[in-house]
Amino acid sequence: MPDLALTVNQRPLVLDVPHEASLLHILRNDLGLNGPKYGCGLGSCGACTVHVDGVAARACVIPAHGVAGRSITTLEGLGSRENWHPVQAAFEECQAAQCGYCLNGMVMQTAALLQREAHPDEARIRSELSGNLCRCGTHVEIMAAVMLAAK
Ligand code: FES
Repeated sequence: MPDLALTVNQRPLVLDVPHEASLLHILRNDLGLNGPKYGCGLGSCGACTVHVDGVAARACVIPAHGVAGRSITTLEGLGSRENWHPVQAAFEECQAAQCGYCLNGMVMQTAALLQREAHPDEARIRSELSGNLCRCGTHVEIMAAVMLAAK
């Protein structure tokens, strides 16, 4: 298997990765990072969202070898229970989770947005999160959390 050098959550790594493996596959299966979720596998639901060099991206449709030399951040690298990222703290404060499956994508997409724009308005937030699906229908609480983080 060919080598792949990349950085994950600020850790430089060299991994043996098959040509056909997706970024999501190596994050979850090889590195045990289960923050990014497998939802649709088609780039359509947002559950697998990670940051690639600070930009939100769908890990399920990115070939692992396509991110050689890049810096990947997963939910695990964003914050921790002892030190939440402000977006994670806002989601907790607003009790935005129902089943929680979409939250990785909601949080990572929001964190990337706020990195670029500290105080987006509601229309901007809705547009940014329009590709992140929540099947429980807890969008009201999620919007409240994002609006809190964007204050
Ligand atoms: Fe990647 Fe749905 S699992 S976008």
